[in-house]
Amino acid sequence: MNLLLYALFGTCTGAYGLTTSSQLVKRDDAGLSIPKYRISPIDGSKIALPTKEQLAWQDNEIGVIIHFEIATYLSVDGCNNIPNLLPNQSLFDPTLLNTDQWVDTIKSLGAKYATLVAKHNCGFTTWPSEVTIETRDNETIPYNYTIAQSPVHGKDVVKSFVESADKGNIGHGFYYSLMWNNFLNVQSGDVITSSWTPGQVNITNSTYNQVVLDQLTELWTQHGNLTEIWFDGGYTESQQANIQNLIETHQSGAVVFNGCQTNGTCISANPVRWIGTEDGAAPEETWSSGVTNDGGDPQSPFFCPAECDTTLQTGDRWFYGVNQTLRSLEEMKDVYHKTVGHNCVLELDLAPDRSGLIPSNQVARYKELGDFIKSCYGNPLAHEMTRNDKGVYSFSFKKPTSIDRIVLMEDQTNGQVIRSYQVFAKIAGSQASHGDVPYTLISNGTSVGHKKIDLLENAISVTDVLVNSTYVDTPKWRSVSVHLCDQ
Ligand SMILES: *[C@@H]1O[C@H](CO)[C@@H](O)[C@H](O)[C@H]1NC(C)=O
Ligand SMILES: *[C@@H]1O[C@H](CO)[C@@H](O)[C@H](O)[C@H]1NC(C)=O
Ligand SMILES: *[C@@H]1O[C@H](CO)[C@@H](O)[C@H](O)[C@H]1NC(C)=O
Ligand SMILES: *[C@@H]1O[C@H](CO)[C@@H](O)[C@H](O)[C@H]1NC(C)=O
Ligand SMILES: *[C@@H]1O[C@H](CO)[C@@H](O)[C@H](O)[C@H]1NC(C)=O
Ligand SMILES: *[C@@H]1O[C@H](CO)[C@@H](O)[C@H](O)[C@H]1NC(C)=O
Ligand SMILES: *[C@@H]1O[C@H](CO)[C@@H](O)[C@H](O)[C@H]1NC(C)=O
Ligand SMILES: *[C@@H]1O[C@H](CO)[C@@H](O)[C@H](O)[C@H]1NC(C)=O
Ligand SMILES: *[C@@H]1O[C@H](CO)[C@@H](O)[C@H](O)[C@H]1NC(C)=O
Ligand SMILES: *[C@@H]1O[C@H](CO)[C@@H](O)[C@H](O)[C@H]1NC(C)=O
Repeated sequence: MNLLLYALFGTCTGAYGLTTSSQLVKRDDAGLSIPKYRISPIDGSKIALPTKEQLAWQDNEIGVIIHFEIATYLSVDGCNNIPNLLPNQSLFDPTLLNTDQWVDTIKSLGAKYATLVAKHNCGFTTWPSEVTIETRDNETIPYNYTIAQSPVHGKDVVKSFVESADKGNIGHGFYYSLMWNNFLNVQSGDVITSSWTPGQVNITNSTYNQVVLDQLTELWTQHGNLTEIWFDGGYTESQQANIQNLIETHQSGAVVFNGCQTNGTCISANPVRWIGTEDGAAPEETWSSGVTNDGGDPQSPFFCPAECDTTLQTGDRWFYGVNQTLRSLEEMKDVYHKTVGHNCVLELDLAPDRSGLIPSNQVARYKELGDFIKSCYGNPLAHEMTRNDKGVYSFSFKKPTSIDRIVLMEDQTNGQVIRSYQVFAKIAGSQASHGDVPYTLISNGTSVGHKKIDLLENAISVTDVLVNSTYVDTPKWRSVSVHLCDQ
C-alpha cells in the first residue's frame, strides 16, 4: 500500500531564508508564513532564498527511508487504512538485528542520510517509549505497544540505528506518523469511536495529541540533531502549534518533509516538498522553489526543494515483502537520472527483513547502483574551463573526446537564478554552426538548481563545450562536467 496515499495537504508553502542556524518560522498577522526572497536586478521578479540547511540537504543528493517495525511481519504493507488491525507485539522478533549492516548498505549506495520509521500506522514503536496514557476512565497506563513488550525487549532499534549512523558518519532522521495510530484507534488524526478492537486503548482526542507530543519529545531530545523530520500525510490543525514549538525548541536545523500547508502555514523554516509521485521520477523541469507537490515554480518566493521517495522493491512495496522482487539495475539508474538528475533529492526505501537484516539481494542491488553512480560520475573527463562575466561557461579538450552526458550544477546560495540553458559543442570533424560560431546545440533545458543531468542519445566526439543560459541574475555555475559512461 502506498505510503503517501494520505499526503493530501502535503504541499509546501514556506521557506524563510534566515541564515542563522536557529530557524524560526515568521508569520504575518493572518498567521501565514512570510517567505524570504530578493528582487531580481534584471527583471524585478522574486528570487526565493534558501536556508543553509536546505542547501546542505540538497547536497546530500541521496538518502534512504527505512521501513522496519511490526508491519515487517505482516503480509500487507503496513496497517494503513485497516483500523481494526492491531498486530500482536510478539510478532516483532528480529533475531539478527544489526543496524551496522544497514548503514554499510546505505553507504555502499552512496546515500548521505537515513530517515528511520520510528512509528508507522499500526502504532508500534521500535524504541521503548516511556510515555503514559490517560484513558477515558482516568486511569494512567503505559504506552505498552513497543519493542519493550516484544520478544526482543531490552533492545532499542532507534538508539541502535542512531549509533550506527553516527559511526558511519551519515545523517539520521525520523519518520513518525501523526495521523494514524491503530493502537490508539486514531484514523486521519481523530480518535474514532465507531469501531473497537481488543487491545486498543480508549482515549480522547486531546490525550492523543499529548501522546504525540510526548513521543516526539522522546525522539527529538534523545538522539542528537536530526537531518530530516518526515511527516507522512501532514498533521492536524490542533497539533500544529505545539509541533512547531517542539521543532523550534529542539530540532530547528532539521529539514521537514511535508511540513507546510497550501494556504501558507508552515511548521518549519526548512521545509522540503514532496514531488507528488512515488515512482522515482521528478519532472524534467523541477525547481527548488514552489509550494505544490510537483515540479514547483520559478516565480514562487518560497524556497522549498523537492524530495523523491521511491522503493527498491517492485509494486510500491515499502516494508519487506516475502519473495518481493526488486527493480532492475537499469530501472534504478533511470530513477537516479530522473531524481538526482532532475534537481530532486532521491530518498530510496530500505526494507530490513524479519531477521533484522537487509537481505543479500537488496544489499547487492544498492551496491550495484552506488557503484554505477561512482564510476559514471565520480571522475569527470578532464578539461580546462573558463567562465565569462555573463555566466557563459566553456571548456576545451586538447584532443577530440567522446562524451555521452552533461552534469550541470548551479550555485543557489542567493537563490536559483538560471531560467534556461543551452549546451553547445564543437563536434570533431563537423562544420555545423550556431549563428556565427562553429557549435552545435547538444542539449538544453530549463531548471538546473542543485543538479541537472542530460543524457545524450549517442556518444559524440567533441573538442569544445559551451554552456549559455537565460537568467534573472548573473548565474554562478557551481560546476559543469561531461562524462562518458556507456562505452
Ligand atoms: C545541534 O544543532 C544546534 C543548533 O543548530 C547546535 O547549536 C549544536 O551544536 C548541534 N549539536 C551537535 C551535537 O551537532
Ligand atoms: C490553513 O489551512 C488549515 C487546513 O485547512 C487550517 O486549519 C488553518 O486554519 C489555515 N490557516 C490559515 C492561517 O489560514
Ligand atoms: C499475543 O501473543 C502472545 C504470544 O503468542 C499471546 O500470549 C498473547 O495472548 C497475544 N496477545 C493478544 C492480545 O492476542
Ligand atoms: C470509551 O470511553 C467512553 C467514556 O468513558 C465510553 O463512553 C465508551 O463506551 C468507551 N468505549 C469503549 C469501547 O470502551
Ligand atoms: C475523569 O476526570 C474528568 C476530569 O477530572 C471528569 O470530568 C470525569 O468524570 C472523570 N471520568 C471518570 C470515568 O471518572
Ligand atoms: C498494557 O497495559 C494494559 C493496561 O495496563 C494491560 O491491560 C495490558 O495487558 C498491557 N499489555 C502488555 C502487552 O503489557
Ligand atoms: C475526535 O474528534 C473527531 C472530530 O471532531 C470526532 O469525530 C471524534 O468523535 C472525536 N473522538 C473522541 C474520542 O471524542
Ligand atoms: C516464497 O517463495 C517460496 C519459494 O518459491 C515459496 O515456497 C513460498 O510459499 C513463498 N512465500 C510467499 C509468502 O509468497
Ligand atoms: C531546446 O531546443 C529546442 C530546439 O531548438 C527547442 O525547440 C526547445 O524549445 C528548447 N528547449 C528549451 C527548454 O529551451
Ligand atoms: C548566449 O545567450 C545570450 C543571451 O541570451 C546571447 O546573446 C548569446 O548570443 C548566446 N551565445 C551563444 C553562443 O549562443
